[in-house]
Order: sequence, then C-alpha cells, then structure tokens
Amino acid sequence: MFELHGRTALVTGAGRHVGRRIAEVLAEAGAAVAVNDIDRGRAEETAEALIAAGGKAAAVPGDITDPETVAAIVRRTGELLGPVDILVNNAGIPAGGSKWGAQFGDTSPEDWSPLIQLNVMAVLHCTHAVLPHMRDQGYGRLIHIVSDSARAGMPGLAVYGAAKAAAAAFSRCLATEVGRAGITSNCVSLGTIPPAETPPEVLQKLARGYPAGRTGTPDDIAPTVLWLASQEASWVTGQTVSVNGGWLTT
Ligand SMILES: NC(=O)c1ccc[n+]([C@@H]2O[C@H](COP(=O)([O-])OP(=O)(O)OC[C@H]3O[C@@H](n4cnc5c(N)ncnc54)[C@H](O)[C@@H]3O)[C@@H](O)[C@H]2O)c1
Repeated sequence: MFELHGRTALVTGAGRHVGRRIAEVLAEAGAAVAVNDIDRGRAEETAEALIAAGGKAAAVPGDITDPETVAAIVRRTGELLGPVDILVNNAGIPAGGSKWGAQFGDTSPEDWSPLIQLNVMAVLHCTHAVLPHMRDQGYGRLIHIVSDSARAGMPGLAVYGAAKAAAAAFSRCLATEVGRAGITSNCVSLGTIPPAETPPEVLQKLARGYPAGRTGTPDDIAPTVLWLASQEASWVTGQTVSVNGGWLTT
C-alpha cells in the first residue's frame, strides 16, 4: 500500500540497528535512500546492501552535528539521488563523548553537550537544510525518532530525555508552520530496542515491563516510519506515534 517510487529519503545514523532497518524498508518501498552515518564504513556497507537487494541508495557519511557537513550531505544527496523529499532524523545516541546512562549528578556540561548536539541541534540542522526544496515542491515528510524517556522519568536519561522532549516540541511547532506547504512533521517514540547481540536473560528481564511481553526490534519501528513517509499519511502531522509495546500509554 505505501509506495515511495520517485521519492528521495535521507536517513541519519542509518549505518546500523533502527536506522538501518528504516533505510531498508524505505528502499523496499521504492524510495532512493541516502544513508548517513558518522561511521563511513557502516554507511557504505548499508548503502551497498540496499543496492544489492535491488534498491536505489547512496552513502552520505558525515557528522550531522556540524551544519556545514549537513549542508554537504544534503547537496551530495541531491547530486546522487535527487533532492530530499523525506527526512528521517534517526541518529540520537552519540557515537562517543557522553557518559551514557550516568546519573545526572555525576555528569558535567561536557557530557551533556553531545546529547544536546545530536538530539536537538542536528535535528534542526538537517531539517533546516531540507526545508527549502520541500517548500518549493509543496511536499515533504519530516520524521523524528524520539524516545519514551521524553515523557517518562527514567534514571540515567535526564539529559537525553530532555533533548528528545525538545525534538518532539520542535516537531509539533514546526508542523503548524509547514502544513500549508504540504509538509508533515511527526515523531515516532520508541520503547527499548536492544541491540541484536543482547543476551536472552537480559532481554527477558527488560521484557517484564512491557504489556506486549517483549522488548522491540527495528522491524517493529520501520513500518510506522514508512507509513508516516507515505502519501497516505498526508493528514497526520504534529503527532508523536508511540511504538513501544504498550510500555507507556499516555
Ligand atoms: N535502541 C533503543 O532502545 C532506543 C530507544 C528509544 C529511542 N531510540 C532512538 O532511536 C534512534 C536510533 O537508535 P539506535 O539504538 O538504532 O542507535 P545506534 O547507536 O545503534 O545507531 C545509531 C547510529 O547513528 C550513528 N551516529 C551517531 N552519532 C552520529 C552523528 N553525529 N552523525 C551521524 N551519525 C551518527 C552511529 O554511528 C550509529 O551507527 C535514536 O534516535 C535513539 O535515540 C533508541
């Protein structure tokens, strides 16, 4: 039902895990997919896999916390695949430089900065860079991957949760500015999506809090992103869709 032929999507942090699966599903639906990651090898390997599976893709590696790099990534995507119609702001866990999961009182501004830079500033940089084309053509899809920690208190995630809440508020306000230009802006809020290598006993422990009886996988997330990216979701905007196994219901 949801097909994206003729559209170009840029997915940030698409070199592995959730972002990679999103890139695969968008490519399977016919979009040309620009695969961004700060890790060049991961971006190239993912793009090659999409092409080998019959899709249209290109690697556009780079650090999206740097606005000049973002401008270059968007320019390069335009040259290789066409201007960006669909932006998935997926990258959110910094590649390094933050004390991930530490109690707030044990952290310092140096630890907060990478979380704010990636979850807030990079979202603004990427969105700002793709808006002119979306406005010109009267069509665009902005999809931001956020976290239930933006709404629920979770230890060790105070700054990350605050940053995701900022991204969600940005998305809601932006939706009111761009709707008449045919552009939607929505968030997908994730529960826990453990890495593939997570031991079964850890998965079982994590699953206890989930009404669905299990934690999530990238396969659980990507179809919702595809739906929000589609023509059919044109009247869905300013929303945060929770894909979280029922962990949080408000
Ligand atoms: N995995 C979870 O349990 C979970 C839960 C809630 C929300 N999320 C959100 O889902 C999204 C994807 O998470 P994930 O678990 O797949 O992350 P991940 O860390 O497994 O993969 C993210 C990718 O982003 C890349 N990246 C990091 N910094 C970057 C930068 N500055 N520029 C470009 N690329 C960069 C990394 O190299 C990595 O390949 C994130 O926004 C995350 O906050 C994840």
